[in-house]
Amino acid sequence: MAYAAFRSIGAYVPEKILTNKELTSMVDTSDEWITKRTGIKERHIAAKDEYTSDLGMKAAQKAIQRSGIALEDIDMVVCATISPDYFCMPSTATIISTKLGLKNATAFDISAACTGFVYSLSIAKAFIESGMKKNVLIIGAEKLSAITDYSDRGTCILFGDGAGAAVISATEDKSEAIIDVHTGADGEYADLLMTPNGGSGSAHDSLEEEAGSCFMQMKGNETFKVAVRTLTKDVKEILADNNLTGNDIKHFVPHQANYRIIKAVGDALKLREEQVVLTVAKYGNTSGASIPMAINDVYESGELKAGELMLLDAFGGGLTWGSALVPFSPKK
Ligand code: UT7
Repeated sequence: MAYAAFRSIGAYVPEKILTNKELTSMVDTSDEWITKRTGIKERHIAAKDEYTSDLGMKAAQKAIQRSGIALEDIDMVVCATISPDYFCMPSTATIISTKLGLKNATAFDISAACTGFVYSLSIAKAFIESGMKKNVLIIGAEKLSAITDYSDRGTCILFGDGAGAAVISATEDKSEAIIDVHTGADGEYADLLMTPNGGSGSAHDSLEEEAGSCFMQMKGNETFKVAVRTLTKDVKEILADNNLTGNDIKHFVPHQANYRIIKAVGDALKLREEQVVLTVAKYGNTSGASIPMAINDVYESGELKAGELMLLDAFGGGLTWGSALVPFSPKK
């Protein structure tokens, strides 16, 4: 049987930085409020002519180069994004695929908001274990600044741009395999976090006057409570299902939405501070890109070693959620 191994990681952040201080000249907020309530100090913002696919392509190039796998052997590209280059089509994955120089790889986007990378991981795992694909490039890429309302202090202080990518490959060595991925969704909570306009649910003639409602809207406090409850339950379940405890985890890599959510879930698992990966201060919330960007930070700091076990967890619009138990398994 083929197993799926997490071979490599890469990430890219655009150059421009937007600080909390700069946001105070745009909306009624303060560095103190943002830091205390979210842990965020700054976020990166893509240039006008820099598209989500450009961010994703740069992250993917690094991941492929670090994987030791030839570009032409990548047979599928999955991009998780809620800020695609184009609304509907073509998919951002096909654009990234072409920018990378791939010719015949299957390519498609998935829409699972901040849980997108965990969902992509489950797709890569399933395709590889079924024998349908051998080397799957998964990407989380977001230009959230394009769908952020910079007059809404409830959301604009949170989001940033960036991308992360990983190569998942077939292996016969079970010790290298992704152990488990959990995913779930509940549309009952759809209105907590959404872009209400711009889809088939809204009349064409309302688009112009309601352009602002193509931006993200969030009921932050309610989302926060559901996030803590759902994530705590999910990470406890995935550990129990696999006869593991928090002590078996080397790196807990949560979606970076809010320091307080991460702390609550980490505490529920009784994790030590050094187990918890935190990048929210410098990147803000980059939705589907936040987990691979955080893994990349650990990798580039030299702290991610072969065989070390990562626990990923994510929560986002939909609502969607997921978790994964993933050993880092670079090609020997
Ligand atoms: O990534 C996908 C999932 N997303 C999340 O998980 C995000 C979850 N939510 C959150 O992270 C937090 O709810 C926020 C950071 C968005 C908000 O923090 P909060 O502690 O839940 O604040 P709140 O919404 O309850 O608002 C508290 C107060 C309100 O004022 P009053 O009514 O008490 O006078 C808000 O109007 O803070 C006010 N407020 C602000 N003040 C200064 C809201 N946003 C701001 C702001 N600066 N940016």
